[in-house]
Amino acid sequence: MLILGIETSCDETAASVVKDGREILSHVVASSAEMHIKTGGIIPEQAAREQIKSIIPVVKEALEKGCGGTSLIDAIAVTAGGPGLIGSMLVGVETAKTLSFVWDKPIIPVVHLLGHVYANWLISNNKETQEPQFPLVFLTVSGGHSDLFYAKSHGNFKWIGGTRDDAAGEAFDKTARLLGLPYPGGPSIATRAAKLKILNLKFEKMKLPRPMINENNFDFSFSGLKTAVLREVNKLKDEGMFNEEAINFLAFEVQEAISDVLVEKTLKAVRKYESSTLLLAGGVSANQHLREKFSSKILDLDLNLDFRVPPPHLCTDNASFVAGYAFYNYHPKPWQEIKVIPNADEAIEYYGINKN
Ligand code: KG4
Ligand code: ZN
Repeated sequence: MLILGIETSCDETAASVVKDGREILSHVVASSAEMHIKTGGIIPEQAAREQIKSIIPVVKEALEKGCGGTSLIDAIAVTAGGPGLIGSMLVGVETAKTLSFVWDKPIIPVVHLLGHVYANWLISNNKETQEPQFPLVFLTVSGGHSDLFYAKSHGNFKWIGGTRDDAAGEAFDKTARLLGLPYPGGPSIATRAAKLKILNLKFEKMKLPRPMINENNFDFSFSGLKTAVLREVNKLKDEGMFNEEAINFLAFEVQEAISDVLVEKTLKAVRKYESSTLLLAGGVSANQHLREKFSSKILDLDLNLDFRVPPPHLCTDNASFVAGYAFYNYHPKPWQEIKVIPNADEAIEYYGINKN
């Protein structure tokens, strides 16, 4: 089955053609991130305008590269549930509905939050691997979401915990801004953290908190990090010490604090649910330090775990995972019933996805 995926939840305009939920025949992503560097973050109105400019060329290119035209695709999948920006999402959804009507093809609505994990089913670098085995635990960490799920099968996703305030990616983006580093914050923080060669003792006092790390639940809270970084930055500025070395240290600490909490809580969930598969997904899972920390803690704890993370370009927003999700959760809806629902919980409810 060939599915055309369309994804426009934020600042990426993406379309892909995917065969049987695994084989990527085309993968096109246009990003307006460059534009948001100037403003230090996304301006929703501007992101939506860019979506309008890009959507037709992107879909056209994906179809041409993927299957040489429209007639070969069997269905259209589109991000219709969040998290996402309403203006951006509308562009993808209206495009998908129009194509579904004109070409008389079924349309499958996808909730972005759940879609991300299907990047783990995609075959990358032509390396055919076995599909991830259920039951499994997955962590989706992105600019708009930080959530832990336990899944017994496709379409059966039990939410077990998530952030109470800022998402992990949001914490990277906001702290980067406080440190004067460019958007998106995750990669900038990672680059600066890697520049910290030796741990200077004079920075010891600036260690950041690891919020909720020891609490007996699967929730996260990252907004305190932003406040802690702001306090340190203000102090350093007052003392005339806000220099490159201090920025590198704080970047290192932000990455370390977020990774420590994500690894600790996620592996706690793996043990509680006796899961033998762990999948990561979302833009933050592109972080090399986080991946390494997971791998080494899994070894330390001697967990017999099939631990998987998609390659970085499939972690961030794209349409291949949207098509993948639709293949494994094939529930087409009449196009008239497809609505844009930016809130993920409301979308899960509206589209009748099992959450238990
Ligand atoms: O999944 P994604 O592309 O979009 C959303 O659905 O939000 O994730 C974007 C987020 C941004 O907050 C960005 O800073 C973060 O993922 N991110 C990273 C890295 N690459 C992207 N965070 C940490 N390390 C990275 N290498
Ligand atoms: Zn995303």
